[in-house]
Amino acid sequence: MAVDTSVNFTGIRFPNPFLLSSAPPTESDSNILRAFDAGWGGVVAKTIGLHPVVNVYGAKTKFMRTEPESNRVSMKKQPGAALHSSWNWELISDKPLDWWIPQIQRIKAAYPDRILIASIMAGSGSDKELRNWQLLAEGCQDAGADGLELNFSCPHMDRKDMGSNIGKDAVLCSSVTEAVKEVSRIPVWTKLTPATGDIVAEAGACFTGGADAIVSSNTFPSLPPIDPDTLEFEINVDGLVSSGGLGGPAILPMSLANMARMTQAFPQGSFSGIGGVSDFSQALSYFLLGCGTVQVCTAAMLDQAVGPNVIRKLISGLTEFLEKNAERGWTSVEDIRGIRKDRVVLQSQIRRPGKEDYHGGYEPVEGYAEPEGVTAA
Ligand SMILES: Cc1cc2nc3c(=O)[nH]c(=O)nc-3n(C[C@H](O)[C@H](O)[C@H](O)COP(=O)(O)O)c2cc1C
Repeated sequence: MAVDTSVNFTGIRFPNPFLLSSAPPTESDSNILRAFDAGWGGVVAKTIGLHPVVNVYGAKTKFMRTEPESNRVSMKKQPGAALHSSWNWELISDKPLDWWIPQIQRIKAAYPDRILIASIMAGSGSDKELRNWQLLAEGCQDAGADGLELNFSCPHMDRKDMGSNIGKDAVLCSSVTEAVKEVSRIPVWTKLTPATGDIVAEAGACFTGGADAIVSSNTFPSLPPIDPDTLEFEINVDGLVSSGGLGGPAILPMSLANMARMTQAFPQGSFSGIGGVSDFSQALSYFLLGCGTVQVCTAAMLDQAVGPNVIRKLISGLTEFLEKNAERGWTSVEDIRGIRKDRVVLQSQIRRPGKEDYHGGYEPVEGYAEPEGVTAA
């Protein structure tokens, strides 16, 4: 039976549901063109703002790995260590809108049928900032962008009225979305932060403001480890560090938990999943919880900067999965989207063992002291 890897997400047809997220892999036209050549279904360009941006001195991103013997998580490369996460304190694009507009035009002229979403960010709290959001939206859509992603999510902006500080405030989420919707002819997605008390509240506010999709999420606020020999943070400038963003494998379970809460709360909503995707197994979790697309950053950065092998494996993984399950009637992502979201329930709804099976917690279990009189299997 023929399978179909394409998806229709917020009215946009993508050749496959795998996108590069807004980050270094999409920071220039040469990267984006390489990404399209490699097969990515779409890209979300690095976030564009109107305010001047200067990044901190030195490295903006480091990768943390776990040593197998000690479980030490460190930015130091150790033989045999497995990838744990990315850690970054990079700001949005340091290129202005005037630089981006011709780039978007060139990319769309070269690949008219590939999907380019423009990520934008301005401030909040005044009519001037709302107008800035509209100026960015108008500039990108007139240049040919297929959609807009509003960045309510960067966890380490150096301005208080931006990024995740918008994403933590439901009223701001709603009013900024509404302002952008007023001027947009293309779909508007909003990218949320996990650093909030109740992400469902912000997702609801975005939908109230008219958002066509929720993207979840950006990185988690975090600090790098302290080196036990030097007592310095493993990344610092003049000994100082600030909270940065954690991405990659470490955040997958937390991102899935947020996603399940939102897809349950808004069953008719469109969702794009981000966090810890490097092969099809993780992408599948997001689809089964209700996402129509997924986005990738860390894994792509570590694979020739734009992830040619990552996208090859994602597409082959999806194709093989659908071929294997075509007989069950699953020939496209739409057929499996959300079919496991109702399996997430309150703990009180999880079955307990009956009297005859229950041994008062005295079964030998990994991580617990061995109960007296019982030999571990
Ligand atoms: C170095 C770096 C820069 C990033 N810059 C942006 C950005 O400009 N805009 C944005 O929305 N997200 C940005 N992100 C967040 C990613 O798009 C993505 O949401 C996050 O890394 C989680 O995905 P992952 O687990 O695949 O890395 C950045 C991430 C990294 C590592």
